[in-house]
Amino acid sequence: MAGDYDLVVVANRLPVDRVTEADGTTAWRRSPGGLVTALEPVMQREDGAWVGWAGSPGDPPEPFDAEGVRCVPIGLSETEVEEYYEGFSNGTLWPLYHDVIVAPDYHRRWWESYVRVNRRFAERAAEQAAERATVWVQDYQLQLVPQMLRELRPDLHIGFFNHIPFPPFEIFAQLPWRAAIIDGLLGADLVGFQRAADAANFTRACRRAKGLPARSGRIRLDAEGGREVRAASFPISIDFRALSDLAQTEGVKARAAEIRRDLGDPQFVLLGIDRLDYTKGIPHRLKAFEELLADEKVQASEAALVQVATPSRERVEQYVQLRQDVEVIVGRINGTHSTIAHRAVHYLHHSYDKEEMAALFLAADVMLVTALRDGMNLVAKEYVAARHDERGVLVLSEFTGAADEFGQALLVNPHDIDGLKETVVRALRMSPREAGRRMRALRRRVQEHDVQRWATTFLQALEEHAGTRGIESVDRAEDPA
Ligand code: F6P
Repeated sequence: MAGDYDLVVVANRLPVDRVTEADGTTAWRRSPGGLVTALEPVMQREDGAWVGWAGSPGDPPEPFDAEGVRCVPIGLSETEVEEYYEGFSNGTLWPLYHDVIVAPDYHRRWWESYVRVNRRFAERAAEQAAERATVWVQDYQLQLVPQMLRELRPDLHIGFFNHIPFPPFEIFAQLPWRAAIIDGLLGADLVGFQRAADAANFTRACRRAKGLPARSGRIRLDAEGGREVRAASFPISIDFRALSDLAQTEGVKARAAEIRRDLGDPQFVLLGIDRLDYTKGIPHRLKAFEELLADEKVQASEAALVQVATPSRERVEQYVQLRQDVEVIVGRINGTHSTIAHRAVHYLHHSYDKEEMAALFLAADVMLVTALRDGMNLVAKEYVAARHDERGVLVLSEFTGAADEFGQALLVNPHDIDGLKETVVRALRMSPREAGRRMRALRRRVQEHDVQRWATTFLQALEEHAGTRGIESVDRAEDPA
């Protein structure tokens, strides 16, 4: 039976967090993520609903309205949180899709839970969507939803966007359920990725795992009367205007100055802000900084590194291990290089609100983004948006989606510690003139390609493709050996 909503977003998490007010009552408040910001105007205009998990185990609350969006919570049991979320999503798919930086675990029980939970999301979305509505499924936790949804509701226009990388077939092929994942995604009319390389990896996986005729981002399904699925890149972004404006408020500017004072007014402030995740290359950047201090290429008294590591997925084994590793390295650097008057590394295992983040960005001379693999890396874009003063230098890993757009950043291979050290020194010594020129170009890029444009472009491409569902001729491409 069709529901009322013309646009339904399906994501692992709802766009709101449960917060406890001063008087002890609880309320829902919009989560800080960019996806919500991007979709809010279109959700309000199109009469939208959002299907997602409320973030803790147990029975789901009843559907409710928050900030103009209909929220439809999905319940996950304790076991499903362990098997679907921490297990298959973050112990199998996450490392597999990030170049097997750590070894993925393959457990049939986790997979069964993933299938069960994906079906629940699909059923709830099918109930909410109006006749011929658009349903936009988000990310790797829900790759089976497009096909399940199409079986339930063939009238829908279905889009899918993968926020993380899609791996080369040689890595993807490890997955025992690779054909089922491809089938799941091919339930969509349009499958979106961050980078052109991700879309190409997916198209190739369709050929190799399923023998499907697929070329130039078009995959033809002869078993479905020649229905054609489109795969393409749509690099995600941030709300440039909101962050740029926030960073120009007197409060944020004053806080940035205060942060520098509290750090002891060093000549250079370096900054890392990441979820505490092994994909982010935090140990690599700490090692480079440690060696620069040891070699005296940077004097301990002239520089401070602030590393914000936001707690994340804290019950997953590899994250527990990473936290221990990072804290040992930070302890060693500070033990060797700090003095009573000056600390070398300020390690903060917290999350901060957007005002404090904007102030940190403004206070930092050099931003270090050294991810070993990252779908996009929005922190890089946030740094740029906050630097309305056109100062600051971005050191950016080549292995981020952002590197495809940010030719004016200082690009690095984070595995190359010597190269990383040289680049950090170059960033610290860069003339204000060159830094300004680079920052202006980076800001222009994000300003012109903000998150609102991302959402609109994806939804327009989906409507163009699903609206016609044309069957063009597609060659059966031979895959090179
Ligand atoms: O795209 C990766 C992602 O799922 C983001 O959507 C999210 O902000 C981040 O990872 C953290 O994920 P989690 O929901 O596991 O805390």
